[in-house]
Amino acid sequence: MVLITFEGIDGSGKSTQAQLLEEALQEQGCETVLVHEPGSTTFSERVRSLLLDSSLNVDPFAELLLFSAARAQLVTEQIRPALEAGQVVICDRFYDSTTAYQGAGWGVADLDWLASFHERVTGHLVPDRTFLVEVDAETARARRAAEEADPDRMEEAGADFYKRVVDGYEALAEQYPDRIRCLDGTRTIDDLHRTIRADVEGLLDAADA
Ligand code: ADP
Ligand code: TYD
Repeated sequence: MVLITFEGIDGSGKSTQAQLLEEALQEQGCETVLVHEPGSTTFSERVRSLLLDSSLNVDPFAELLLFSAARAQLVTEQIRPALEAGQVVICDRFYDSTTAYQGAGWGVADLDWLASFHERVTGHLVPDRTFLVEVDAETARARRAAEEADPDRMEEAGADFYKRVVDGYEALAEQYPDRIRCLDGTRTIDDLHRTIRADVEGLLDAADA
């Protein structure tokens, strides 16, 4: 019924918000599906382990294709059937991640090419709402460091890369102001959640009308 995506750099807090939103919607009796990218199907989780494996050296264009392969499978296997069944689908990352990371971050393709490529990969599926949780690269790095997990292959990219990704997300938000809501990720978890809830209530009311 409604597709909601969360975007932001690693450590921005988007997974926290995606989970809180799902819990809140379930409490009010909504049927929801929460998925994350790359992953959430058997095939896509295998692709994920290739993508995040620090022992592999992956060509940036190969990376673009693998993220997209994982996404095509996820759309077919999970997202589209759930939407057709009237469920609310919450996606922790979607194609804006590819535009920001592979497009703006690594410069593998320009924005117009990526936009039409994403249409092919997803069969023209466009999120009803995208929450972009914005934090600067240093805040995100400090949050990741506090979690004490070893960095995965993607997280090994340097500070300059993350700054380009942040800029790439900003450019997307300017290009799609009706779809993408920018949120200051340094606000408290509860405060952000309240803002997201209010926006989603409006979306669900509009979908019911
Ligand atoms: P992401 O999914 O964007 O990588 P997470 O939701 O996993 O980020 O959050 C990364 C870390 O930051 C976690 O330890 C989480 O508890 C913390 N965190 C999330 N949101 C906030 C926030 N608004 N303020 C402070 N810390 C936060
Ligand atoms: P993950 O552990 O899921 O990170 P996060 O909690 O921040 O979402 O790892 C996914 C990594 O893959 C993350 O560094 C972002 C990156 N990524 C891309 O580069 N392109 C993409 O299209 C997607 C979906 C993710």
